[in-house]
Amino acid sequence: MLDFALKRSANVHWQHVDVDRAVRGASLGQRPLCLWFTGLSGAGKSTIANLVEKRLHALGHHTYLLDGDNVRHGINKDLGFTPEDRVENIRRIGEVAHLMVDAGLIVLVSAISPYRSERRSVRELFDEGEFVEVFVDTPLAECEQRDPKGLYRKARAGEIRNFTGIDAPYEEPEVPEVHLRTAGERAERLAEQLTEQLLERIVAPTDDGDDAI
Ligand code: ADX
Repeated sequence: MLDFALKRSANVHWQHVDVDRAVRGASLGQRPLCLWFTGLSGAGKSTIANLVEKRLHALGHHTYLLDGDNVRHGINKDLGFTPEDRVENIRRIGEVAHLMVDAGLIVLVSAISPYRSERRSVRELFDEGEFVEVFVDTPLAECEQRDPKGLYRKARAGEIRNFTGIDAPYEEPEVPEVHLRTAGERAERLAEQLTEQLLERIVAPTDDGDDAI
C-alpha cells in the first residue's frame, strides 16, 4: 500500500516571476539559446562545442558549456551507462541547460544523448526556436579508429559494457536543426560555419521596446 503521492510535484504550483529570460537575455545583450550536440563518443562533439563557445565568447556573448564527461564528475556522478541512468543523465542535463537558458545564457551541451525520446523531452522544455539540435555525424568506424580515450578498444575487448555504438544503441536524429558531417572536415571550419549560422539567431534585437519589462 502506498501512502504518499507518486508524482512528487503534484501539489506544487508554478510561481510566476517578472524578471524572465527575455529580460535577462536583453540585459546580457543576447537571445538565450540551447545548442545541443549529439553524436557518438569520439565524434567531435566536445571539440566543436568548445570551439563554438570560444568564438561566441570572443564576440562578447555569455555562454556556458555543459559537457557530458564533466557533468558526470559532479551533479551526475551517481549515474552510469545503463539505459535508465542515461535517461536520467539527459533529463538532468536538460533541466540544468533550461535553467541556464532561463538565466539568459547561450548554453552548449555536449552529450552522446543516444535516445531520440529523451532528446525530444528536452526539446519540449524550451520555447520554439530556443533549442537547436546539432547532429555531429561521424561514422562509427571513424570514431573507433580515432578512439581518443581508448574506450572503443576496451569495449571491443569486453572490458566496458553498454558502450554506445558497440553494445548499446545510438539513435540518429531524424530532423536535426544542424547536421554536421565531419568526414574530411576540420573542426575549426565546422565551428566557424556553425557560429555564423547562430549569430543571426543570438544577437539581441535592436532596442524597439519589445523586450522591456
Ligand atoms: S550519455 O549517453 O549518457 O549521453 P555522456 O555524454 O554523458 O553519455 O557520457 C559519454 C562519455 O562517457 C563518453 O564520451 C566516454 O568518454 C564515457 N563513457 C564511459 N563509458 C561509456 C559507455 N559505456 N558508453 C558511452 N560512453 C562512455
